[in-house]
Amino acid sequence: MKDLQNKAKNIIRNNSRGNFTIPCDTLYPFQWNWDSAFCALGIFTYNKERALKEIDMLFNGQWENGMIPQIIFHKNNSSYFPGPEIWQSNTNPPTSCISQPPVISTIIWYMLTLGLHDKNILNDYFDKLMKYHKWYVNNRDPYKKGLLSIIHPWESGRDNSPDWDDAIDAIDVNPFLNIPRKDNQHIDNEQRPTNDDYNRYMQIIYKCKDFDWDNKKIYDEGLFNVCDPGIQFIFIKACKDLYKIAVYLNREDTYSLLEEWIDLYNNNCDKLWNNKVNAYSSFNIKTGKLHDCISCASMLYGYANVGNEDQRKYMLEHSKRILHFTNYGFPSYDPHQKRFDNKKYWRGPIWCIINFMLSIGFTNCNESQLSNKIKSNTIKLIEQNGFFEYFDPHVGRGYGGENFSWTAAIYLIFKNDLLI
Ligand code: DGY
Repeated sequence: MKDLQNKAKNIIRNNSRGNFTIPCDTLYPFQWNWDSAFCALGIFTYNKERALKEIDMLFNGQWENGMIPQIIFHKNNSSYFPGPEIWQSNTNPPTSCISQPPVISTIIWYMLTLGLHDKNILNDYFDKLMKYHKWYVNNRDPYKKGLLSIIHPWESGRDNSPDWDDAIDAIDVNPFLNIPRKDNQHIDNEQRPTNDDYNRYMQIIYKCKDFDWDNKKIYDEGLFNVCDPGIQFIFIKACKDLYKIAVYLNREDTYSLLEEWIDLYNNNCDKLWNNKVNAYSSFNIKTGKLHDCISCASMLYGYANVGNEDQRKYMLEHSKRILHFTNYGFPSYDPHQKRFDNKKYWRGPIWCIINFMLSIGFTNCNESQLSNKIKSNTIKLIEQNGFFEYFDPHVGRGYGGENFSWTAAIYLIFKNDLLI
């Protein structure tokens, strides 16, 4: 299937806007944080120089305070809402004012293992990554509770996951907000979040703007504050990978801080353990309540390599139960729950980047059979259905954006047998 690898490269080339890659034409016309990081690894399989430019453009959007934003608006484009005129970041380039899952440290670690050995480049990246991690700890866990918060569902990258339905539902709806959505002009409504979701997403942003994006105030008094196991687990792995980069570079000055972060977030994962369902789940920091259900983010425990023997046993049982339901990898939400929806964005469909992280996770847990199964099922899913944004877990049909960059990137990574 060499042709499909060429197709994957062409998709990424067509979505390239010079030195960065958009996730997909019209629907997402800018540079997104975790999309771009996964994409860079895919590009690394065939063009190392261009892959590093992708990373440089991400760092180009990094704020003075260390945050790497969710979206970087390098060039104007009116096909997306909310664009730079809503966020008003006052930065150059303009960006959104929230972040996204910090996979970039892990991606750079993988590049190192695949041959990126230039110490000047690596030291420069390392300093920027340390700054980003410090921003996360100081702004998303200001009381050092060992739980990282998201202050907007968009920060999780899994916008409309049922994981925070209670937190979203608790926001008073302003019926007079008229949100000029653009996403559903490109994609069927049944595959996207609802108008009501968007109304609430925007209310959260307007409240943050009232606070002048003061992160401490937003954490204490904002409309939304949830610990997403996805962010928690991705950050733990990112810190572990950053530590490995530090060792490679002999950056002894940073070892103790990295160890501190790894311990703090590792040790507090137990607060996400929900005895009612015997699984890791999301935690509403505002109400102190755990969500009584499992999503694909809960399953990233293996990616972070956390949990005691019993917890890992339970999680493995859940994994097998859920994987039994589909031939294509992991649905974004537990298919045995009533909130599961096979078409709707992060409420059920399968996402290839999640399959990628899960296959790494199961390798970490010495479950190489499961890991290989997820990998071969992801390849099959794409070969049979195309390079879509997400897929129906029952029938494999593609949904959302077509010719999607990170789906193409994961295909290249899996087909070239990288990492796992
Ligand atoms: C969107 O606009 O749908 C994105 O998920 C926000 O990051």
